[in-house]
Amino acid sequence: MHTTASAPPSFLATMDAKLITALLVLSAIYTSATANTAFDPCTSQRDDADLTVIPIYGKCSPFDAPKTESWINTVIDMASKDPERVKYLSTLVSQKSVSSAPIASGQAFNIGNYVVRATLGTPGQLMFMVLDTSSDEAWVPCSGCLGCSATTFSPKTSITYGSLDCSVPQCSQVRGLSCTATGTGACSFNQSYADSSFSATLVQDSLKLAADVIPNYAFGCISAISGGSIPAQGLLGLGRGPLSLLSQSGSLYSGVFSYCLPSFKSYYFSGSLKLGPVGQPKSIRTTPLLRNPHRPSLYYVNLTGVSVGRTLVPLPGDLLAFNPNTGAGTIIDSGTVITRFVEPVYNAIRDEFRKQVKGPFSSLGAFDTCFIKTYETLAPTITLHFTGLDLTLPLENSLIHSSSGTLACLAMAAAPNNVNSALNVIANLQQQNLRILFDTVNNRVGIARELCN
Ligand SMILES: *[C@@H]1O[C@H](CO)[C@@H](O)[C@H](O)[C@H]1NC(C)=O
Ligand SMILES: *[C@@H]1O[C@H](CO)[C@@H](O)[C@H](O)[C@H]1NC(C)=O
Repeated sequence: MHTTASAPPSFLATMDAKLITALLVLSAIYTSATANTAFDPCTSQRDDADLTVIPIYGKCSPFDAPKTESWINTVIDMASKDPERVKYLSTLVSQKSVSSAPIASGQAFNIGNYVVRATLGTPGQLMFMVLDTSSDEAWVPCSGCLGCSATTFSPKTSITYGSLDCSVPQCSQVRGLSCTATGTGACSFNQSYADSSFSATLVQDSLKLAADVIPNYAFGCISAISGGSIPAQGLLGLGRGPLSLLSQSGSLYSGVFSYCLPSFKSYYFSGSLKLGPVGQPKSIRTTPLLRNPHRPSLYYVNLTGVSVGRTLVPLPGDLLAFNPNTGAGTIIDSGTVITRFVEPVYNAIRDEFRKQVKGPFSSLGAFDTCFIKTYETLAPTITLHFTGLDLTLPLENSLIHSSSGTLACLAMAAAPNNVNSALNVIANLQQQNLRILFDTVNNRVGIARELCN
């Protein structure tokens, strides 16, 4: 576990004064609390609390940030994986038809930006699992896994563990299945995840999230991985297809959850995941949740337009339109770092933005519209228009600053254009300090401002 002292010094150097103050206050609390025992914001989840959503490179995460000089470079590094993810999202098809995947060389770090504490088995084994709203299945590395890191789930030490064979109904819902027609033997499957792949068998055991125990949860027990994008301690799928948390928890969560992602800069803070209808915001603006039968895991919404300042950007309607036949449209995703629009849409938004801010403009990583921070006061707000809901992004959610603090950049980019359908992805950076509510029973997505940290 990290201690306060383990924060890289360069990271501290680039944090703003407010955060440093927060940090000093926190370490003061920590010091005085340890004197009369027990206050550590990273100790285990209180049973009655919402589930804590931990930024993967935050203080309460066991994962080390890539070695870069500043957090913006960490963001740029993370965002450099977005094109792979967007390609993966836009090629996700219904169950069974995809098996294994092209394998790329190992990358330095994982896709998946937020983790939650989950325990598997009896007695419980703690795993920091990546939260992924665009996947259904859960999977974890199991003991003996080839190519996995040290933390694995040990089926042998759990008294509630069970194997599943090819004949069980859950097995037919897995992508990349390798069961033979006769339907006996272990339910083995191979799957791709972004630019990596893994081999696993479907098994079951108790899954515990905060105080909730879901018995006989079916998940993949990974025996081998290739590529560097497989989350080191597994993944929890919050998608809407079969085998997702919502599907396997039955009436426990009534098809409802929400999350609030903390600010990107808040190394010391976490957000929350509320599962089930209890405690959700009572009044929240909503937009219809759309279903695409070819991509049953994804949360589609109807993005009808984008405004930059007071200007509604002229966009050809067919570039935004939801099309269940091609998969085109707009999704809300928890694993892409910066919002990606199909290229002509992004270019139109960017050009209007540039018109209203003073150049010259330069590039920084994925960001092609960086300008001198002094002109930030001219920066127009970005409003995403959804059916029945306009979301005006706070500046923190539309601009990002260079580590030297001299540049501000429009924190969005074009989607890779070599994909087979026009998919726009509303990503993490644009979701900071918002509560996003997914109600799969009433088919709506709610969005409300909330300080999640
Ligand atoms: C799954 O991957 C393993 C290891 O790479 C390989 O031996 C096996 O043939 C693959 N199975 C399928 C169905 O692709
Ligand atoms: C999305 O919004 C547009 C514009 O209001 C409307 O014409 C279209 O029918 C909507 N699509 C869906 C799937 O609701």
